Amino acid sequence: MKILAIETSCDDTGIAVLEIKGNKNPVFNVLSNVIASQVEMGKKYGGVYPMMAKREHQKNLPIVLKKAIKNIKDIDLIAVTNGPGLEPCLWTGINFAKELSLKLNIPIIPVNHIESHILVNYLNNKKIKFPALALVVSGGHTQLILVKGIGKYKILGETRDDAAGECFDKCARILGLGYPGGPIISKLAEKSKPGKIKLPRPMIGTKDYDFSFSGLKTAVLYADRRANPSTSLRARTKQYKKEMAAEIQQAIIDVLIKKTIKAARDHKVKTIILGGGVSANSELRSQFKSEIRNSKFEINFIVPKPDLSTDNGLMIAITAYYHRNKKVAPSKAATITADGNLRIK
Ligand code: KG4
Ligand code: ZN
Repeated sequence: MKILAIETSCDDTGIAVLEIKGNKNPVFNVLSNVIASQVEMGKKYGGVYPMMAKREHQKNLPIVLKKAIKNIKDIDLIAVTNGPGLEPCLWTGINFAKELSLKLNIPIIPVNHIESHILVNYLNNKKIKFPALALVVSGGHTQLILVKGIGKYKILGETRDDAAGECFDKCARILGLGYPGGPIISKLAEKSKPGKIKLPRPMIGTKDYDFSFSGLKTAVLYADRRANPSTSLRARTKQYKKEMAAEIQQAIIDVLIKKTIKAARDHKVKTIILGGGVSANSELRSQFKSEIRNSKFEINFIVPKPDLSTDNGLMIAITAYYHRNKKVAPSKAATITADGNLRIK
């Protein structure tokens, strides 16, 4: 079967076509995975603005679709993200998917964006051992999710304020580094070591599995003011920016790893799964690997290829495959609605 999937929950317009052969041991064949990023606009305005992002999706969708379905025939199922995310953006994708579904007379299936950050890992790992623990870290979410099987989830903990990616983005903004903050801070951090500037590790020792990153951002703001009494962004030296980047990144990594390992031990999971834009961070990936290697319990560690960590259509397609029995007929497509706060369960 061939699934055409549409992702517009934030600022990336993604459309992919995934071909699946075989039933018991499915073989995945990626026919296309096209993304139109709004990074340039994000850079210009210093972040994502829902109504502006919505207009960009409207502009991008027909162009991205044309590229994604070039030379492809016989689509069996249309998948679309219906939440969580920015509602105006979600609706744009949903309305586009509904039109396609009616026009081509193909069933349609709504997909949870967070679940898709987890299940994208099935592309390269056919057998994930359960129970598993998923850490989904993106611009909008930081959640620790117990995965008992596909479709069986329990949120163990999550951020009480800012998401980890949001913290990267806001800290980068404070330092005048640009957008999106994660990749920029990560690159700068390569050129220094953490610890030269000291930042807090919020909630690292608490017994729950929750996170809090807004205090870290505020600590960066105050530390930055102390180090640079002149408000001019140009007053910051290159060395200072590298040291700050390395410490911000390490503070976020320390909290994410500590809490994830604690939850993994407490729930005796067999696998740790990473997903979401922040999981593209190379230091996070390598420190997770060495922490797991050094810890005494046997556990599989699974993380997507960096380009599949960030938002894309392919993750929606593969998730739709695992929920294909929930498809709705084109005549019922109107029942699909966007839910900006959709929870995984
Ligand atoms: O999953 P995603 O593409 O979109 C959401 O669902 O939010 O995640 C985007 C987030 C942004 O905050 C971005 O700064 C962060 O992921 N990010 C990174 C890296 N690449 C993207 N954070 C740290 N290191 C990276 N290499
Ligand atoms: Zn995402």
